[in-house]
Amino acid sequence: MTAGKQTEEGQTVCVTGAGGFIASWLVKLLLERGYTVRGTVRNPEDQKNAHLKQLEGAEERLTLVKADLMDYNSLLNAINGCQGVFHVASPVTDDPEEMVEPAVNGTKNVLDACAVAGVRRVVFTSSIGAVYMDPSRDYDALVDENCWSNLDYCKETKNWYCYGKTVAEKAAWERAKDKGLDLVVVNPCVVLGPVLQSSINASIIHILKYLTGSAKTYANSVQAYVHVRDVAEAHILVYESPSASGRYLCAESVLHRGDVVDLLASMFPQYPIPTKVKEDGKPRVKPWKVSNQKLKDLGLEFTPAKQCLYETVISLQEKGHISK
Ligand SMILES: NC(=O)c1ccc[n+]([C@@H]2O[C@H](COP(=O)([O-])OP(=O)(O)OC[C@H]3O[C@@H](n4cnc5c(N)ncnc54)[C@H](OP(=O)(O)O)[C@@H]3O)[C@@H](O)[C@H]2O)c1
Repeated sequence: MTAGKQTEEGQTVCVTGAGGFIASWLVKLLLERGYTVRGTVRNPEDQKNAHLKQLEGAEERLTLVKADLMDYNSLLNAINGCQGVFHVASPVTDDPEEMVEPAVNGTKNVLDACAVAGVRRVVFTSSIGAVYMDPSRDYDALVDENCWSNLDYCKETKNWYCYGKTVAEKAAWERAKDKGLDLVVVNPCVVLGPVLQSSINASIIHILKYLTGSAKTYANSVQAYVHVRDVAEAHILVYESPSASGRYLCAESVLHRGDVVDLLASMFPQYPIPTKVKEDGKPRVKPWKVSNQKLKDLGLEFTPAKQCLYETVISLQEKGHISK
């Protein structure tokens, strides 16, 4: 354990949306470190949550509790008695009806329940979508934790996921201030890596489409990437480090889609990976720069993007989503 971190073994913590891609990894690492975990799921009997019961330590220290973000009492029931809460659950969609209300009011409900239950620290999973969507941003400047997405721009471009995550994060900071809660936020970029759950989540589809032949071209755009284990690790680091505060951008590197397909093709030539860019009449977009210094300062060592892509594909093969 890193110097200055608190020994948390034996504590009970809650992870919302435990069956999702990131949350499953978080539950796995928390159990490995000796935590007792309450994972909220919408349906504990659903087979899509079965993988959680197979995790090491789950039999002794994982309880799945039925809760919905829109049902405050169900959240309070799950959170009562927990020293820490990791609020990971959120819709991940660009449908405004499905996205905004559960993301925003769900986050308020979680924080209200944390305040009533006397939770010591809350870690909220926001997104780089709450950080970088701003047309007035200096493209050559470093994207860091001081940046906030522009809500009008998100609306105009119908980027309802970024809109919902930005409003939800702002609401979380406001609520935490009002209620005197200790809140720390992790802002991951596009998360890749091995899937523990049986279904495929949105960020994995981002890669899967290049392997199945469904994407004939790649976009002339750039994105930041990070390994799912590093994202889970970041959540635990900011929870356990007494000095942690504010937002933590969680990104390893920024790549053009052309770099992503080249890396995939070099490692997995057997797939129909696109070789042509989708024409948009613009010169090749340059990668912007993103800061991950705050997490590095807490001791996080990021997995290189190539390794992350490799592990993503191997996992998709092992789970039978693509043939070898
Ligand atoms: N993956 C990425 O690239 C990425 C990047 C940045 C930030 N994030 C953030 O990380 C978090 C997890 O994302 P993920 O990629 O792991 O997505 P995911 O696999 O789709 O997981 C989302 C989870 O949220 C739960 N959820 C959605 N609506 C809910 C509701 N009304 N009540 C209770 N639970 C609800 C889902 O439960 P059900 O299974 O019952 O639907 C699921 O467990 C989200 O907050 C997302 O915004 C993800």
